[in-house]
Amino acid sequence: MCGIVGAVSNHNIVPVLLEGLRRLEYRGYDSCGIAYLDGAQPAELKRLRSIARVGELTSRAQAVSSLTGIAHTRWATHGAPSETNAHPHFSGGEIGVVHNGIIENFEPLRARLKEAGYAFITQTDSEVVAHLVHSHYRGDLLAAVQATVAEMVGAFAIAVVSVKEPHRLVGARAGSPLVAGLGAAATGENFLASDASALQPVTQRVMYLEEGDLVDVRLGSIRIIDREGASVEREVHVVAPGSDSVELEPYQHYMQKEIFEQPRAIADTLESVAGITPALFGDKAAAILPKIDRVLILAAGTSFYAGLIARDWLESIAGVPCQVEIASEYRYRDSVPNPEALVITISQSGETADTLSALKHAQSLGQQHTLAICNVPNSALVRQTELVYLTRAGKEIGVASTKAFTTQLVALFLLALTLAKLRGRLTEEREASYLRQLRHLPAALQAVLALEPQIIAWADVFTPKQHALFLGRGLHYPVALEGALKLKEISYIHAEAYPAGELKHGPLALVDRDMPVVAIAPKDALIEKLKSNLQEVRARGGQLYVFADADSELTPGDGVHVIRMPEHYGALSPILHVLPLQLLAYHTAVKRGTDVDKPRNLAKSVTVE
Ligand code: M6R
Repeated sequence: MCGIVGAVSNHNIVPVLLEGLRRLEYRGYDSCGIAYLDGAQPAELKRLRSIARVGELTSRAQAVSSLTGIAHTRWATHGAPSETNAHPHFSGGEIGVVHNGIIENFEPLRARLKEAGYAFITQTDSEVVAHLVHSHYRGDLLAAVQATVAEMVGAFAIAVVSVKEPHRLVGARAGSPLVAGLGAAATGENFLASDASALQPVTQRVMYLEEGDLVDVRLGSIRIIDREGASVEREVHVVAPGSDSVELEPYQHYMQKEIFEQPRAIADTLESVAGITPALFGDKAAAILPKIDRVLILAAGTSFYAGLIARDWLESIAGVPCQVEIASEYRYRDSVPNPEALVITISQSGETADTLSALKHAQSLGQQHTLAICNVPNSALVRQTELVYLTRAGKEIGVASTKAFTTQLVALFLLALTLAKLRGRLTEEREASYLRQLRHLPAALQAVLALEPQIIAWADVFTPKQHALFLGRGLHYPVALEGALKLKEISYIHAEAYPAGELKHGPLALVDRDMPVVAIAPKDALIEKLKSNLQEVRARGGQLYVFADADSELTPGDGVHVIRMPEHYGALSPILHVLPLQLLAYHTAVKRGTDVDKPRNLAKSVTVE
């Protein structure tokens, strides 16, 4: 992961670097740093690094001024989060480097550089880049970076400065994203960043580098060289400034704000949906979707769980067979490709390395019909698929995914309805009834959010626990998985989810008085089966925390705690039932005093394999 920013200007670029880092903290926040050429003659390469957050670095950098610099926010892969391991890394006091990704052959490179006399002071793979560039440097930074990249194996993006060449940055992209930003012509300033959002205060005009590109960024010019060494033009995209408010008030954390934004996010996602039609998925959808007789879903984490729910909808409503695969596994599996399948990638960020690679793998197997369900316009994912559905959750800042998940579900439900209609499985009455239910969702979600006080009381019980179990069946098993992921991710309580029928095949052995067991129990076709499974838990002294609805006929009693959901919602029930689980995880984490929006060891965008 990690975030990179670089800038050359004829005025102080330090505030640009720091604001860029603040905007890139979603890519990792284990440490951060800036390197800059000071104003001395000859210039010196200096740096400031911090194992605290960008805010702390910013307060220490108030007096720093420079016209050329690079900056980095880190998600540690090689070497613990420490100031020594924090980027930028230097070589010979002359070369400064920031790096995103992994250099797979760093060990032989390090051994060779050590033999050549270079001293290594970090545990990172990144330090080899600084020394390699230094070893190749003969007065032209671009040539040195070109020679360096030719020796590196892995997926990475880098930005490099040389003390000998003020007003110049060289970047390279091979597997990790990098954009070049064009500043105002009057100032000639230019930029590099992992993501266009980092540059929004200074430019909306960016060029997305392609695989193997090198970029030479100078005052007044940007030159891009492709992997063959030829100068190339890349399209200039104008990225609309983000309109989402990132104000927190009146909430305590972004995650809480984002949970409460879900009625609005779903209303926005549905805004342009007048009826069920292929056009919802892009111009080419009318030609492609009628041919689809099978679906393959590729995703990671929460987005994968959205895919599991969608499988039920696609098979039961549209009658389309659906396979759902964890992206990081699929890309290395010898699977049997089906060129007629629609490959759906689901991702909040559109930058998840595993999902992007899985898509590429699917395409390399001849599966050309692709659809991205994504929350970020212009992200790598939406630029690589035939069809796109952009969810309109708005910027999600909390690392734990909430509103992205429920808006993904809305998009996937619309797809199931569209395929059902194309296959003659959706009557006009059913279509109208599903659309009514979808439009009523925001109000139904508001009613669920009103349950917060009861959930806060349950959070008191969960706060001292070490473990928790989540149970669901059918459509609600993936909801249980999502509830367990939320709890472990932000409260650090070990949580597991099972389809309730599996309990007796092993996990029941874990159940005792100290194990809270959460059950998602709306009245559906499997409710009686689920009730039997819950009896198995009670019989072993397990404490049950059940989300039921009025028709489930589950009542509180000894060891059975029940929160009644306001409405029963049929096929769309997962969208309602996940909310109380998000709130339970959130309030438990707050009571445990964790860093809710930036939980330890994680990052918002997972851009490394
Ligand atoms: O951006 P993506 O949806 O591709 O991200 C996938 C996962 O990394 C993400 O959903 C992760 O599991 C969340 N932090 C869970 O809350």
